[in-house]
Amino acid sequence: MPYNIGIDGPAGAGKSTIAKKVAAKKGYIYVDTGAMYRAMALFMLEKKVNLSDTEAIGKNCENADISIKYENGVQCVYLNGENVNDRIRTPEVSAAASKTSVVKKVREKLVSLQQALAAKTSVVMDGRDICTKVLPDADVKVYLTASVEVRAKRRYDELVGKGESCDLTEIEKDIAERDRRDMTREESPLVKADGAVEIDSSDMTIDEVADKILSLCRE
Ligand code: DC
Repeated sequence: MPYNIGIDGPAGAGKSTIAKKVAAKKGYIYVDTGAMYRAMALFMLEKKVNLSDTEAIGKNCENADISIKYENGVQCVYLNGENVNDRIRTPEVSAAASKTSVVKKVREKLVSLQQALAAKTSVVMDGRDICTKVLPDADVKVYLTASVEVRAKRRYDELVGKGESCDLTEIEKDIAERDRRDMTREESPLVKADGAVEIDSSDMTIDEVADKILSLCRE
């Protein structure tokens, strides 16, 4: 039987870093579901679909073939046969993903893909609705948070580290806006699932959070 670990939480809480670490320790596959929503958003941008038109997004999503492959242990997201890993991390795609991911048809399509993956192999899967909707029976369920200030500072440091210039107050505003959209949407809003363990990573190191999750697996 596959063993499944689900991690939900707001943008910038450290989900992907932690999930990758836990997956490596356990020898499981890491599934970044946000990347799938990003690939779908990229598709809508390329097709110039009006992002306020829910019906148009729902219709167009039927033509987006999204799949996941693992190459040298790295998750690669394919959109209609093309590896789009390098194209889904732009601010434009982030903003578009938070709009297209509210559409029911988009979610239905991607959730069934995610469930199929977790049914055949042990995974650490991160996202917003993993423990509430995708894998409500996951063996370990985690709700990972951190304060807006801490998340913004982490993102700021990351961008500065890459040599990009940015404004901390702007980043805080962006994060707060994405939280609001993710938490108040009608379809699968971000909430702590029943039975999920909440971990606030504001004052914890990556290793401390990963160890905490590994200890939950042992319990
Ligand atoms: O985690 P991320 O920033 O890569 O996610 C991109 C967008 O997709 C974000 O607005 C939330 C959304 N998302 C979602 O609705 N459900 C998921 N399981 C994962 C991400």
